[in-house]
Order: sequence, then C-alpha cells, then structure tokens
Amino acid sequence: MLADHHHRVAVIAGDGIGPEVLAEALKVVRASGVALDTVDYDLGGARYLRTGETLPDSVLDELGQVDAILLGAVGAPDVPPGVLERGLLLRLRFALDLYVNLRPFEGGRLDCAVVRENTEGSYAGEGGALRRGTPHEVATQGSVNTRMGVERCLRFAFELAQSRVRRHLTLVHKTNVLTFAGDLWQRTFDELAPQFPDVAAAYNHIDAACIYLVESPERYDVVVTDNLFGDILTDLAGALSGGIGLAASANLNPARTGPSLFEPVHGSAPDIVGTGRANPLAAIRSAAMMLDFLGEADAAARITKAVAETAPLSVPGAGTVITTTQLGDAVAERL
Ligand code: NAD
Ligand code: IPM
Ligand code: MN
Repeated sequence: MLADHHHRVAVIAGDGIGPEVLAEALKVVRASGVALDTVDYDLGGARYLRTGETLPDSVLDELGQVDAILLGAVGAPDVPPGVLERGLLLRLRFALDLYVNLRPFEGGRLDCAVVRENTEGSYAGEGGALRRGTPHEVATQGSVNTRMGVERCLRFAFELAQSRVRRHLTLVHKTNVLTFAGDLWQRTFDELAPQFPDVAAAYNHIDAACIYLVESPERYDVVVTDNLFGDILTDLAGALSGGIGLAASANLNPARTGPSLFEPVHGSAPDIVGTGRANPLAAIRSAAMMLDFLGEADAAARITKAVAETAPLSVPGAGTVITTTQLGDAVAERL
C-alpha cells in the first residue's frame, strides 16, 4: 500500500540512543508501506566536537524546506550542558516557530494529552550573568510570556479538547506565586473559554497537578501548560504511563507554514547507550504522529495500535531480554 506522494523527511538521529531508536522508527515506517524521502543530517555532539558547529544557518534553511523532521535525541556527556540543547533542539523549535509541543499519554491509568507551550517561558533565554565566578556573581533567568504566544497555545488546546470524547481541558500553572505570568495565562484562558462552550475548563496549580497525576490521573483529558512546567510534567506522565521509553511528542507548527518536528520525550540516555536496552517505542510512536500530521492517518493508526500491543513487551527502566532491535521487529511484524 504505497502512498500517493512522497514525503521529504529530514532525519536528525543525534546523540546517545537517538540513532538506535530512530533506526527502529524508520524500519516500522517502511513496514507500514509509507514511502519517505529521507535525508540524514549529521548534527549533534559528534559534529560539534569535530567542527564546533551546532546548527549552521545553511542547514537550518534546508531544514525549513522539508515536510517534516524526525529527531532521535540531543545531548552528550562530553559537551557542556546547553550547547546542543539550546544550539540545536531549542533553536529548531524557535526558528521554525513550533509553538505547540503535543505529548499524548495512554497507558497505566492515564489517557490524556499535554499541550506544552514550546517557544516562550523560561526557555526564551532571557537573562544573563554578571561578575561570573566572583562572590558577587549574579544570574538571572527570566520567563517570557506574550499574549500572542499564550493565546495561540491555549487556542490549540481548546480545539484539541473539543475534538476528543471527554472535552475536558485543565490549565496548569502557578498563579498563586508567578502572579504576572499566571495572570496572563489565566485571563487569556478565561477569555477563550466562552468560545468553546462544549469544553469543560478547569485549573490546577502545578504542584497539585503532580499529586493528581499520580493519585487520580483519570481527571485529566487535555492539559495545557507553560514550557518549563510542561517539560517536567511530561516526564512524570511518561513514567506513570508505562515508562519514559514509550512517551512520544510532536513539536508542531499548526499553521503548517513550515515543517513540524517529531521526537521522543526522552533524551540521549547516555547510561544505556549501546546496551540494546533503549526502548524504541517512543520514537516509533513519534514517527506515527509525524505520519498522521503528513496526512497518512491510516498508517499512523496502524503503527499506534501496534505500539500499544507491543508495549507489554518492553520493560522500561529495567534490564530486559527484549532488545531495541527485537522490539522494533515486533512492531514491524504486526503491520
Ligand atoms: P534521559 O531522558 O536521556 O534519561 C533519563 C532516564 O531515562 C535514564 O535513566 C535513561 O536510561 C532512561 N531512558 C531514557 N530513554 C529511554 C529509553 N528509550 N528506553 C529506556 N530507558 C530510557 O534524560 P537525562 O539523563 O536527564 O539526559 C541525558 C541527555 O539528554 C542530556 O544531555 C539532556 O540534555 C538530553 N535530553 C535531550 C532530550 C531531547 O533530545 N529531546 C530530552 C531530554 C534530555
Ligand atoms: C524535552 C527535553 C528538552 C526540553 C531539552 C533537551 C532542551 O528535555 O524535549 O523534554 O527541555 O524541552
Ligand atoms: Mn524534557
């Protein structure tokens, strides 16, 4: 069952277990019958250590022309923290204006999706250091929240909630302490809510949301939150819904004025690289989200189903007899 048209996909395998899990994701896409024109990009720790480059402008221009980007993981122990994370991954999210980071969780007692704002907040890079290394050192790290940025993220979340069976949306923030940013988020949320009368809207503080996610996750359908809260909450949600090795994500440009980027929630996992213990299901599920966004809904649904059926074969976070490759094969065989 070959697709009518080819999709041009840039593949950034990246660091650590990134190449291991992406190989399985591409294997599964092939088995689904969807034809991809893939181009591999040598970006990440190895390139940085060799050339000092994280994401050259010319490469960024090329990446802006493809239909989608599939990324494994970035971050390497022999590169200072932030160099690759900011210089490569965040640069892509910001430059391509991938303002929604959509992270679905279906497993354990969770059946929800987190809409994480993906271009602002504490990630914007506002701040600086003064008198570094002296006793009078100062470091500031601001959080940038714009009405436009908050509103477009919330609107996406309301529309997503409207499209789901339960039609429930929870804003998660810390309005009791982060009163400036919290006020903007809460007010914009309250202003949008009447436009979505069929969506039940709720609010939780981030600290309470951590309790509820563990103790009563059934209350959550769609959760919308800022960049940093969303980062942390989705690792927790991943751990609670079958393990971080299952958690997939889509960095979306919903207006489709450029490519969107699909990647597992997890990182480069240097502690298990090369052991065959990396769970490829998060990467495979991310590839399915990519296919869905590219209009290949049938293949995406078949892969997602195969991943769910295969999930019990994975042993997240524990030593396992099932290797990365065997798990990829098991998904491919089901298609
Ligand atoms: P991590 O997600 O790489 O690993 C956290 C823990 O989860 C580790 O014990 C790891 O072994 C385990 N784990 C992760 N993915 C797994 C998988 N597929 N199967 C089985 N176990 C898995 O987070 P970290 O250790 O905090 O960060 C390592 C590096 O990755 C850092 O450089 C960090 O900046 C980077 N990072 C990148 C991304 C990304 O590319 N999107 C995400 C998170 C962290
Ligand atoms: C994630 C990662 C990234 C983030 C890092 C690597 C920049 O943790 O995708 O969750 O914090 O957004
Ligand atoms: Mn994270």
